[in-house]
Amino acid sequence: MVSQGTNFIIWRFVLAIVIVIFFTPKLSSAKQSKLMGMKMNTIDSCWRIIDSCWRPNPEWRRHRQQLATCSVGYVGKMTNNIGNDLIHYKVTDPNDDPTNPKPGTLRYGASVIQSKVWITFEKDMNIQLMKPLLISSFTTIDGRGVNVHIANNACLMISKATDIIIHSIRIHHCKAQAPGMVMGPNGKVIHIGPVDGDAIRLVTASKIWIDHNTIYECEDGLLDVTRGSTNVTISNNWFREQDKVMLLGHDDGYVRDKNMKVTVVYNHFGPNCNQRMPRIRYGYAHVANNLYFGWMQYAIGGSMRPSLKSEANLFIAPKVGSKEVTWRKIGNTSGDKWKFHSVRDAFENGAYFTVTKGGRVPKPNYRKEQGFKVVDVKFVRSLTRSAGALQCSRTSIYVKKKHRK
Ligand SMILES: *[C@@H]1O[C@H](CO)[C@@H](O)[C@H](O)[C@H]1NC(C)=O
Ligand SMILES: *[C@@H]1O[C@H](CO)[C@@H](O)[C@H](O)[C@H]1NC(C)=O
Repeated sequence: MVSQGTNFIIWRFVLAIVIVIFFTPKLSSAKQSKLMGMKMNTIDSCWRIIDSCWRPNPEWRRHRQQLATCSVGYVGKMTNNIGNDLIHYKVTDPNDDPTNPKPGTLRYGASVIQSKVWITFEKDMNIQLMKPLLISSFTTIDGRGVNVHIANNACLMISKATDIIIHSIRIHHCKAQAPGMVMGPNGKVIHIGPVDGDAIRLVTASKIWIDHNTIYECEDGLLDVTRGSTNVTISNNWFREQDKVMLLGHDDGYVRDKNMKVTVVYNHFGPNCNQRMPRIRYGYAHVANNLYFGWMQYAIGGSMRPSLKSEANLFIAPKVGSKEVTWRKIGNTSGDKWKFHSVRDAFENGAYFTVTKGGRVPKPNYRKEQGFKVVDVKFVRSLTRSAGALQCSRTSIYVKKKHRK
């Protein structure tokens, strides 16, 4: 028999444990989210401070730059984008003048300012760019806290630049552009040739992090990584309503893309994406913990000796159409070699993955600052739950609820 006194002691003990669990400040947000029976991905839990109702705390605003330390995969950490010499620039004017951008506009912050700059937005904005926006090295475009659309005309281009973050922007209805004059990434007006209507186009760019954007319905593709671009991480984005989604590698003749390394993680693909999630030429892609909500032709394809490690992704085949995740372009003999490997992926609705026979799974060989733990595929739905630009209210950012047919 337990006496009243002992009972009291036991209860005090239990209470003490409860207090320790809920009030220990050192508990990481990852652990907090686990406690709440949810799993937040490693990037998000790094900068979002979660309160007990699974609402990120408005505190994140005071620590915006912490985001730069949260990237994973080939991009490494974006610590070159922060520091004492950082310029804080606020976009107050949604207008665009491609050759003579006014202070207060996005183009002034992204192309004219040559130093390390962190760009935020004063209020919700629809920005219609008159020409592609050529983003300078060491630029962060951070749309958290407001709803920013870059839409209905020219979109983003990163050419011969490094150390760029694009975060929480809605990019859609991008259109092809005729050649013309535009403020270059070096702050000088230059002439650029015609461009296809891609949402984000990388040309000889490196160390680029594209995180938490919602990208859809563009004339050409959503995201192109071309001409020797490398060290890229594409994370937490929501790609939908598109024929050609993501191209990694310029064309079959561009052998320099053999050095390309791209990490594709925690993205949500679909609904209504047709192909290229991604399509890989020459280089290496580590595609992990993504949610594929259907496709029409295929999800992941390639040509010209591409290497792929597809790891713990959830592939949900469409009800009608191709059930095969993969596609390979049969070229001439050299183009026939490919290394497509699937590890711990999950398949629903009859989806299947054609792996390369024999050979070893190509490892990403991440450096310490690039590495991350690929989690079990059963968590993918919850890890990708807040993919896309974050929904905002005046005071906080919360997790978006998506309709998934
Ligand atoms: C890519 O990153 C690696 C470090 O992981 C670095 O050694 C290499 O020079 C980078 N490549 C480019 C083109 O910046
Ligand atoms: C195979 O394709 C590559 C790259 O396009 C090309 O350089 C090569 O000449 C082609 N070989 C044949 C036999 O057609």
